[in-house]
Amino acid sequence: MEILRAEKMGFCFGVKKAVETCYEISKKETEGNKYILGMVVHNKDVVKEVEKIGFITIDEDDILAGKDPLKKGDIIIIRAHGTTAQIVDRLKEKQVKIYDATCIFVDKIKEILIEREELGDEIIFIGDKEHPEVKGIISFGKRVNVFKNLEELKESKLSSSKRYSVLTQTTLNKSKFLEIKEYLEKHYSNAQIFDRICGATSERQEATKKLAKICDIIVVIGDLKSSNSKKLLEVALAENPKSYLVQNEKELDLSIFSKDMKIGIAAGASTPEDIIKKIENKIRGNFNV
Ligand code: F3S
Repeated sequence: MEILRAEKMGFCFGVKKAVETCYEISKKETEGNKYILGMVVHNKDVVKEVEKIGFITIDEDDILAGKDPLKKGDIIIIRAHGTTAQIVDRLKEKQVKIYDATCIFVDKIKEILIEREELGDEIIFIGDKEHPEVKGIISFGKRVNVFKNLEELKESKLSSSKRYSVLTQTTLNKSKFLEIKEYLEKHYSNAQIFDRICGATSERQEATKKLAKICDIIVVIGDLKSSNSKKLLEVALAENPKSYLVQNEKELDLSIFSKDMKIGIAAGASTPEDIIKKIENKIRGNFNV
């Protein structure tokens, strides 16, 4: 038996930083209740860990509806996806202590958006407007047109006399971005395109695909509800029908393996290293590898 890990797997830079911020703050802040805005990461086990060190997950809708328990002096961490301008205003009004763990890649897009609007541009934003990251970024703008994809963009009536800046969600698929870029360059010389896509998601998908081609079986480690873990399973299944999504070591069924197999392990950007290690060790322990 051989166990191979995907070349890129597990926590991305932004998620790692947000989880570390929770641990730092739990040690540093001894007064006031501690909250985290939304799930720190789409992984139940990580959320439980963060709750164990004293954090309570709080919902943005509750804050907007005035149904939150926040009091002056409480601590709140903004997760890696960031949040909206309205929420930031509410938090300031409530005089809570804000620790902003928004990923720097998300923040950068927000900065460009503000800067370009100040210079007079209108914004074209490509992404899913229901996604928290997109909701957050576009809330800081005043003239933002959101399109889900190239098809939606083509249906819109853009003006040839306005100046546009084009921004995207960090996780937009690179080939889709290139199609959009090509279309805009061909039809709108008045649009300036900013490529701020974060490679973490696509790198994990590419690495999983590569591994699935050379292994007998693939274990994708991640929360069953995490969209990036489910996507990795899809990528693995397309190459190898023996691909499984496993949440943690307790749920790992060892009967799917046999002694002569080459096993591939992959994990999405929301899966922490210690869950990956526990699964790997359980396989190694059982088969003596
Ligand atoms: Fe940041 Fe990219 Fe992760 S934008 S939160 S490093 S997926």
